[in-house]
Amino acid sequence: MTVRELQDNILRLKKETNTAILAHCYQAREIVEIADFTGDSYKLSVDAKSVPQENIIFCGVHFMAETAKMLSPQKHVYLSNRHAGCPMAEQMDAELISAVKASEPDRTVVAYINTTASLKTVCDVCVTSSSALKIVRALDSDKLLFIPDCNLGDYVKRQCPEKDIKLLNGGCPTHARVTVKEVEAAKAEHPEALFLVHPECQPAVVALADYVGSTTGIMDFAKKSEAKEFIIGTETSIAEHLQYDCPDKKFYPVTKDIVCHNMKLTTLPDIYNTLLAISGQGGEAFEIEMDGELISKARKCIDEMIRLGG
Ligand code: 13P
Ligand code: SF4
Repeated sequence: MTVRELQDNILRLKKETNTAILAHCYQAREIVEIADFTGDSYKLSVDAKSVPQENIIFCGVHFMAETAKMLSPQKHVYLSNRHAGCPMAEQMDAELISAVKASEPDRTVVAYINTTASLKTVCDVCVTSSSALKIVRALDSDKLLFIPDCNLGDYVKRQCPEKDIKLLNGGCPTHARVTVKEVEAAKAEHPEALFLVHPECQPAVVALADYVGSTTGIMDFAKKSEAKEFIIGTETSIAEHLQYDCPDKKFYPVTKDIVCHNMKLTTLPDIYNTLLAISGQGGEAFEIEMDGELISKARKCIDEMIRLGG
């Protein structure tokens, strides 16, 4: 089957089975093309709450499908590739954070959405990279514990010096691996280019940026900018999508190694197989199953994120 034939079959089955496809913008071009909703983690959380279809296939990583399930518990939510997890989301658990809270009970716990549902049950509010600053500023409390990404936490802390923000040592292995040396080499190769960076990168790398923002923030900035060349400091797929969307501009990934192998796991055949299973024609699907009590406890901090971030 060709890519085009597979995409057509997916579009047909999606309609027949009343299924919506949500794809994070780190997904491959051929997946973004057949998705009903694409965007960063914040946008997809809001979309997951309002999709009319009875089934959702999430193309991204596990915590994202889990978040969609919590926001639409009456729907069937499937993760298109069962092995797609986010290493950052597994770095801290509820026991660790409960212990930190016990020693400093006056701190409000702000969790990056890249956390497990179980960890979310002991947190006060979630944030994403696009909503973190707005939400931290809107919180009544001035004493915070920000987990798990200390790079995003450091960025927020610098923008909000009036708040006492404690960080722990966690983060995204994909973004954290970018070095100042690599940025300098990319800038030397493309001296006219603006450097757009995700705040999951190290502070010394973020300090070299012309713009800091989420995946969607980076894409919007590049599309609206008068500049013609950009070095992209986030997953390589963003440079690729931008190159399709803005053929008159040039986009360079800051390094060829800024690849999230978990995000790259999902393929069109995974989506097709999930749809076949939903329609009872064979295939194979990985449905997110969550207990009602876990959903109601973990969902509070996601609802709070949507309330404060909207
Ligand atoms: P955003 O899409 O919210 O910027 O998140 C980036 C990311 O690393 C998701 O796992
Ligand atoms: Fe997790 Fe980083 Fe991959 Fe995002 S890019 S899914 S934070 S490992």
